Amino acid sequence: MQSPTVESILGKQAIADIAKPVESARGLPAAAYTSQAFFDLEQQRLFPRTWVGVAFAEEIPQPGDAMPVVVAGVPLILLRDGAGTVRAFHNVCRHRATIILDKPATKLRSLQCPYHAWTYGLDGALKATPFWDGTPDSSRTAPDTASNGLVPVRCGVWNHVIFVNLDGKAPPLADYVRPVDRFLADLDLDGLRLAHRHGWEFKANWKLVNDNWENYHHVWVHEGVFDKMSEEVDLGTGESYTEMSPEGSVLVLRRKDSAPSRQASAPLAAHAMPPIATRPGAAPFRGCTGAVLPNTTVTIGISSYAPAIYTPIAPGLTRVSMAWYFVGDAATDRAHAAGREKVLDRWLGESRDLAGRTGIRSQDHWCMELQQAARGSPVADQVQFSPTWERNVHYFEKWVVDRLAEA
Ligand code: FES
Repeated sequence: MQSPTVESILGKQAIADIAKPVESARGLPAAAYTSQAFFDLEQQRLFPRTWVGVAFAEEIPQPGDAMPVVVAGVPLILLRDGAGTVRAFHNVCRHRATIILDKPATKLRSLQCPYHAWTYGLDGALKATPFWDGTPDSSRTAPDTASNGLVPVRCGVWNHVIFVNLDGKAPPLADYVRPVDRFLADLDLDGLRLAHRHGWEFKANWKLVNDNWENYHHVWVHEGVFDKMSEEVDLGTGESYTEMSPEGSVLVLRRKDSAPSRQASAPLAAHAMPPIATRPGAAPFRGCTGAVLPNTTVTIGISSYAPAIYTPIAPGLTRVSMAWYFVGDAATDRAHAAGREKVLDRWLGESRDLAGRTGIRSQDHWCMELQQAARGSPVADQVQFSPTWERNVHYFEKWVVDRLAEA
């Protein structure tokens, strides 16, 4: 039996409809969000070929820190080696394929398989195979150490996010993120410090995150945060105040230089969080968000940086890990506690849970769950895009189909 393809699951017509100009295109049909076959195809053909966000660098802050992660069903070890470099390896013992690291660990000097104690250095090299030949050091017939190290995985860190590329063939990470990096070039994001991390699961497909990378929904979904359509668009001309810059594997949303200031930022300013430093002579920074496809988003404001990593669990289930960073001591000191809380409340809401639906992210997840439920309907195959607002969404859905159709 032939394996399912993007064409056999979605149909030729649906693929042709996505490829049309945004004005006449139709979006991904429901099966792309609900079918196990499509989910499996993404896991096999999309995620292994791209850079995938997997963790925040602060989750393994010190040499010898390590954690297990799973990417597209593949178990990996992330660790910080003795020199402080973040590395990734397949979490598979070279003896008889046992998971080596099953929970986060600190201060490791080596990795030891729990089954028969094969031991690897933090550089992945095989160090010991005790009692392989019945002797303590297995000195007579020890397996060749040079060819039995942990299998490395391509890995990189960009703005506090650890990325991996399973097949090793994606463009260099710096090139992959360049479409959003160019807007951040004047900012000192390395100097930011972690203040808070938060995790959720929501009952919707991972693609709905990138489908949400538009501003059309802001005043409707994020009531209390973005209240006035006049802050999103010129009501006389219909011209959006937001630039959409989809390029390569990145979606960018960014306020146009000519856009009026957001009223919503005034309450935050009252708490005086220090602004992110910019290069001398740089133009004032007005905020920027980017979705680094397929699963990582970054939101950079005047004083805070908030990346998020989305992990697909099932067609209708996604796990999120999000982090908030501020400038220097303002990330942790008492003097800025109220300011930090104000920023976090804006995202998380007072209840800090999905049921509360009072923060930006909980409101987004709630809306994505409504979309996922609708995609179970027999009339949910034909969706359309506003050319004013949703070029990013159209670009992303075509990006998915194109990636899945690649040989
Ligand atoms: S499977 Fe790891 S040492 Fe045997």
